[in-house]
Amino acid sequence: MCGIVAYIGHREACPIIIKGLHRLEYRGYDSAGVALLTDELTVYKKKGKVSELEGFIAAKDTKANIGMGHTRWATHGEPNDENAHPHFSTSERIAIIHNGIIENYAALKTHLQQQGHVFHSDTDTEVFVNLIEEIKKQNDCSLEEAVRLALHEVVGAYAIVVLSQDAPNQLIAARKGSPMVIGIGEGEFFIASDATPIIEYTNEVVYVNDYEIVVIRDGQLNIRSREDVNQTPYIQKLEMELDSIEKGGYEHFMLKEIFEQPRSIMDSMRGRLELEAGHLNMGGIRAYEQKFVNAQRIIIVACGTSWHAGLVAEYLIEDLARIPVEVEYASEFRYRNPIITERDIVIAISQSGETADTLAAIELAKSKGATIFGVCNVVGSSIARATDAGAYTHAGPEIGVASTKAFTAQVTVLTLLAMIMGQKRGTITDTKLRELMVELDTIPTKVEKALLLDAQIREIAVEFKDATNFLYLGRGYNFPVALEGALKLKEISYIHAEGYPAAEMKHGPIALIDENMPIVVIATRDSSYEKVVSNIQEVKARKGRIIAIVSEGDTVIPPMAEFVIEVPHTSEILMPLVSVVPLQLLSYHIAVLRGCNVDQPRNLAKSVTVE
Ligand code: F6R
Repeated sequence: MCGIVAYIGHREACPIIIKGLHRLEYRGYDSAGVALLTDELTVYKKKGKVSELEGFIAAKDTKANIGMGHTRWATHGEPNDENAHPHFSTSERIAIIHNGIIENYAALKTHLQQQGHVFHSDTDTEVFVNLIEEIKKQNDCSLEEAVRLALHEVVGAYAIVVLSQDAPNQLIAARKGSPMVIGIGEGEFFIASDATPIIEYTNEVVYVNDYEIVVIRDGQLNIRSREDVNQTPYIQKLEMELDSIEKGGYEHFMLKEIFEQPRSIMDSMRGRLELEAGHLNMGGIRAYEQKFVNAQRIIIVACGTSWHAGLVAEYLIEDLARIPVEVEYASEFRYRNPIITERDIVIAISQSGETADTLAAIELAKSKGATIFGVCNVVGSSIARATDAGAYTHAGPEIGVASTKAFTAQVTVLTLLAMIMGQKRGTITDTKLRELMVELDTIPTKVEKALLLDAQIREIAVEFKDATNFLYLGRGYNFPVALEGALKLKEISYIHAEGYPAAEMKHGPIALIDENMPIVVIATRDSSYEKVVSNIQEVKARKGRIIAIVSEGDTVIPPMAEFVIEVPHTSEILMPLVSVVPLQLLSYHIAVLRGCNVDQPRNLAKSVTVE
């Protein structure tokens, strides 16, 4: 939530910052602003998207070689010009941008007001910058020292960049709990919430750790701990390609990412599924193999779509490896004193690797001695670094706020993990394992075939674009897919939708069904097929409008359904990878037809770094 970018070097800072903010807009788009440092410190900010800010500054003098910018997802205070970042201190000699939340801001604010500081916004961030100013005044110290001392007083999460008119040629940054990466160029430095604003200038980066303070001055990068101990920066090479963060001819990132799935699923399997050699590998579990073999229980923690991938993993791991699995919303798990032992393995699933609730759940489980395994997409992210071991999903950057290719990549990695665990524990026969490997290898092609349904699904979207409610039903492996389909529709088209286990419908939601209610039933051929057919009959008897997702060649369901979408058939346990595709496309087309902003739906952000 919230994106930050900063630049110091020989180029003009403002265009780099604006371009970077566009790349980070997926993190929040309530308001945007820049601060530019020459002999003076100037701030421009505006409610709305980065394009509004761009228009606002078009005629202004924005020449500067040092600057910083922010795109906001509102926490404290509504989206308006005053609450937009950067925020000035009372003297207007120091400015700050901030991603995160300062929890003790109210007490700090009262104290600062007593010292004469004046506030113009409702934000916690304005408190932070005034705290720095007050500490600097009280201690008559450098800006760097004032920032360091201020970090001891704030409680919460932050990634901040600070500029001051009294500290020319200098940029100070710090983080705790919110992501921050530094790009190192030739005589120039970039700071951002992720690597996307940096990639076209340099591929040398340093991921800043919690409680580190970064000072860039006179062309030198210096990192110190909050306790003022010098830290050696660990420079890494970025492997991201510029193409992967651009739309590549698609109208929206979401559509591009849906269509990338044959490739991203293949990338998730690369080097892990070696069909010819008959091997399954996952480097991440090698050192923890015995722990996995002897695990008494697996607890999966995640949020949103990643939680749905976790539900699929529960079915997979219990089926193939016979280890009991519990799937928890990270936000609930962290606050309910769960029973965790050293023989538990906690699998944390997160696309961004920055979700605050998932991070907190990891910390809790760690403190009780569990082994933590991460399934993350963003390389170098906080969750990837907080876990004992893990496997990256390798889906490539996901920019659309609604998660699509990250979900199928997560399910692919978790399928491989369940297969490996089943193999090591001897709970799956060689024949069954081999069959699954062969079938898994065909999934990218089957997803490609499912994508050919795009035009048909758009037609169905035209029919239902004005619906006010949707019900999604599925059983077994397709139940989490029903939840995921409903979430996709809600978040980008703002239509109310519920996902339900098909058999559970009769315990309540059946009362909602009438001739206006669209009901998407995932009814592919699997062990609960006949039962789902009966559920469809129940819906039909109440005149619900049925959109059925069926296996190719099904002749039983088409006469019962108003619309039928035939997907390629695959093994029951791999079906979520295929059956989710038409649901992604359906939500996409409905949202476009309703004129919604598909890539940046209202109130949402891609990376949820607040709890
Ligand atoms: C839905 C969506 C969210 C995320 C959730 C967790 O399309 O994107 O529900 O899945 O915020 O995010 P990560 O996976 O980054 O931890």
